Amino acid sequence: MKCGLCCSNCGKRRTFQMKDTRCGCGGTMLVEYDLERASRTLTKESLKNRQTTMWRYEELLPIEKNEHIVSLGEGWTPLVRLYGAEKALPLQKLWVKREEQNPTGSFKARGFSAAVSLAREYGIRKVAVNSNGNAASALAAYAGYAGMEAYLFLPRDCPGLIVEECIHYGARTFLVDGLIHDAGQIIRDGERDQGWHHVGTLKEPGRVEGKKTMGLELAEQLGWKLPDVIVYPTGGGSGIIGMWNAFRQLKQLGMVDGDMPRMVSVQEAGCQPVVRSMAKGEFVAQTEGVTSKPTGMRVPNPPDGGLIVSILQESNGTALSVTPKEICDAQADMGNQGISASPEGAAAWAGLLRLIDRGWIHKNDEVVLFNTSHAMKYWPWHAVRVPVVRTYQDWVDLHKL
Ligand SMILES: Cc1ncc(COP(=O)(O)O)c(C=O)c1O
Repeated sequence: MKCGLCCSNCGKRRTFQMKDTRCGCGGTMLVEYDLERASRTLTKESLKNRQTTMWRYEELLPIEKNEHIVSLGEGWTPLVRLYGAEKALPLQKLWVKREEQNPTGSFKARGFSAAVSLAREYGIRKVAVNSNGNAASALAAYAGYAGMEAYLFLPRDCPGLIVEECIHYGARTFLVDGLIHDAGQIIRDGERDQGWHHVGTLKEPGRVEGKKTMGLELAEQLGWKLPDVIVYPTGGGSGIIGMWNAFRQLKQLGMVDGDMPRMVSVQEAGCQPVVRSMAKGEFVAQTEGVTSKPTGMRVPNPPDGGLIVSILQESNGTALSVTPKEICDAQADMGNQGISASPEGAAAWAGLLRLIDRGWIHKNDEVVLFNTSHAMKYWPWHAVRVPVVRTYQDWVDLHKL
């Protein structure tokens, strides 16, 4: 039930289009919906009988015809209460949203289910993305399912298993000697000649809409309540932007009330443009000194950093960076609680600990952490760290040592 695009910065409206999602003022054009019409069918009651994928919110997704939907079962991921951690920290209520349970093992599946569906609706056959890894493998899977050609450009130090995953889905996969924006430049340069549809962050209108469903789902899973704090590992920012949009639309629809959550962006110390920008009060890209590990948070110049900063400010939120050592310890902490956390998901946990320490998160706060991907996708595949035994006697002998 989309009715056009609206600039997130100046409010200017235009008819829906697949390209040029940047407004003349520099803001990002986001999809607008006929909410009055949506409210006739999208109700708390009607949702009780719908499919358990993100397409349960079809009125708030930009596809016109159901036959164009490209779905591998994304969304409706578990929201798990961390009772042990609540006691230890202590915190009133703490959940982890298990986005690693999505097809392709990350929240990126949501964005590409929407973007590839839109591409199919508009008759597009060739799609290209620049990515730190998870977006590329998600596009590869959805394009494969839809029978499209996918072209992927990833920094050469991208985790090896994710590169293998891209190849496994049959995508044309290329490593780039540079960072994510260098990879994006290759697509911009070749877009016209190659007929690629650029599905990089905020380059088309679909991905951010798919990610919006994380926020819709969270509200529904919490019984149409919003948490006090959301802690999110941030790179290009479309997760934060999508969720904020979700909460706004739910408010306009009258489906939630009360305060909006305080949004927290966590980044790694070696690449923290959002953190620095929050300290400065306006967005500034990180132009040098990028030393962080190759994760989804390593985005020195997000396409609309200004929008990320304004959402964090409007929500009374914050941004903070954590060190590689904290991320490593946090992965172990989450692993011990049964959660397979990627470095990004672990960064959210590390950020939570710091914010409790600083007194920014209080014990009465209800907090949701996003575990955006699986630990397993980042493991070096030869590094098996367990002893090998053949018989019970071997095992006994090992314990005698
Ligand atoms: C696992 C993971 N977490 C977080 C992010 C950052 O998300 P966003 O671009 O929505 O800020 C990414 C992006 O690549 C990612 O792959």
